[in-house]
Amino acid sequence: MTVAAIIVAAGRGTRMGGDRPKQWRDLAGRPVLAHAVGALQGAGVGRIVLVLHPDDLDRAGIPQGVQVVPLTGGDTRQASVRCGLAALAQDAPEHVLIHDGARPFPGAAMIGRLLAALTDHPGAAPALAVTDALWRGQAGLVAGVQDRTALFRAQTPQAFRYAAICAAHGAHPGGAADDVEVARAAGLDVAIVEGDEDNLKLTYPADFDRAERMAKGRDMDI
Ligand code: CTP
Ligand code: MG
Repeated sequence: MTVAAIIVAAGRGTRMGGDRPKQWRDLAGRPVLAHAVGALQGAGVGRIVLVLHPDDLDRAGIPQGVQVVPLTGGDTRQASVRCGLAALAQDAPEHVLIHDGARPFPGAAMIGRLLAALTDHPGAAPALAVTDALWRGQAGLVAGVQDRTALFRAQTPQAFRYAAICAAHGAHPGGAADDVEVARAAGLDVAIVEGDEDNLKLTYPADFDRAERMAKGRDMDI
C-alpha cells in the first residue's frame, strides 16, 4: 500500500488575523505547518505535498523533506487540493491523506485507523460525535432544539483511494468545504473514524492559545 499526503496551506487566515497566515505563526518554536508535517512524517507518511500560496514560497521555515507546490487555478481550499492531487499524478499513490495545514496535531493512532478503513471503503474521515446540546436560534432566543444523535464534527486528514478522489474532484463544480463533501457528491462511501480531541484546527486567536498550551504539555511529556 503506497500512501502520500497533501497538506493544504495556501489560505490567508482572515479570521485569525495577525502579521502572517496562521499556518506560518510560531507555535512552541516552529511554524504551525512544521508541526503538521512532523506529525504526518512521525506517523510513517514519507511522501508529502505541501500546497502553498505564491506569496509564501520564499518564507523562512518551509519544512524539509516535502514537495512544495504553488497554488494555481483559484483561491479556494478545493483549488488547493486539486493542485496537490495533480502533483501526485506522475507517480500515483494508492491512498492519499488530505490535511489542513492549520491542524498541527494529527495523531498517529488516528492516521492508522483511517488507513485501515480504506481496505473496506474508498474514503474514511475522522470525526467526533457532537456532545453539546444543539439549538436553533432566532433573534437572540432559542427557537428550537436540534437532535444531535447523528451529528459529527469533521476533522482532517481525510483519507481516500487516490484514483477515486481524483475522479470525484474532476466531477465536482468547485467550492466544497472539504473532501468528504466532494466524495459524497460523487457517491463514494466515506467511513466515519474516531477523531482526536487534540486534533484542533486553528481558526480564531483563542484556538492558538489552546494550541500553545497543548504544545507545551507535549514537550513536557517527552
Ligand atoms: N486553504 C488553502 N487554500 C485556500 C483556503 C484554505 O490551502 N484557498 C487551507 C488553509 O491554509 C487551511 C485549511 O485550508 O490549512 C483550512 O482552511 P481555513 O481554516 O478556512 O483557513 P483559511 O482559509 O486560511 O482561514 P480563513 O477562512 O479564516 O481566511
Ligand atoms: Mg477559509
